[in-house]
Amino acid sequence: MTNHKIVVAIDGHSSCGKSTIAKALAAKYGYVFIDSGAMYRAVTLYALRHNLVANGELKKDELIGSLSKIKIEFRYNPVSKKSDTYLNGENVEDEIRQLPVSQNVSPVATIAEVRTAMVRLQQEMGKNKGIVMDGRDIGTVVFPDAELKLFVTATAEIRAQRRFDELTAKGEDVSFAEILENVKERDFIDSTREASPLRKADDALVLDNSYLTREEQMTWVIEKVEEKLRFKSTEI
Ligand code: DC
Repeated sequence: MTNHKIVVAIDGHSSCGKSTIAKALAAKYGYVFIDSGAMYRAVTLYALRHNLVANGELKKDELIGSLSKIKIEFRYNPVSKKSDTYLNGENVEDEIRQLPVSQNVSPVATIAEVRTAMVRLQQEMGKNKGIVMDGRDIGTVVFPDAELKLFVTATAEIRAQRRFDELTAKGEDVSFAEILENVKERDFIDSTREASPLRKADDALVLDNSYLTREEQMTWVIEKVEEKLRFKSTEI
């Protein structure tokens, strides 16, 4: 029987809502959703816990030597109805979103050996298709043959504004200028690093959501998925 399921690869800049789109899409089609950034975050948490980051310096060779001891999985949580990230059998979903991990994940994600190990795992997760994965290199490196590739973006100012609104709503005292600076800096690191820099795959469709509501975006994305599924069902 033909497998009508497809692979959806979603890449793009930080804070542009990739995960929100990916999650909603996976829920609609009953696909697996994988947040590949969570995997780099889990490796970073391991490094922090094993003192592989000292005075802001990452002990790169030691981390590479420890890779075989790092087991990352996603397990479905029936309460929150989403997958949680597990590091060596422990649920670390909350901890990987906290500041120490966010502050140290960029250098970890630039290590080629870390990327090779994560990409292998990601490819294994997608081998039966029916998956929506978001990240920076999904359409270019992880699933170069994905049926649908999206490259999501929005202006740096708009992404900074969204992040500013999110943080101030949580009561955090932040300045817009500082956040804008951080967004621009992360764009720069993501797109200029040597190992798998963020870039649009040649066959990716660009979704600039600067001036789109969530509903407008989803309508657009679902239309693209439906097109691919129709095409897939006509394949022999
Ligand atoms: O999307 P995020 O902020 O959770 O990603 C965390 C870090 O991992 C960020 O520095 C970008 C990096 N990353 C990556 O290099 N490749 C991916 N496929 C996903 C994330």
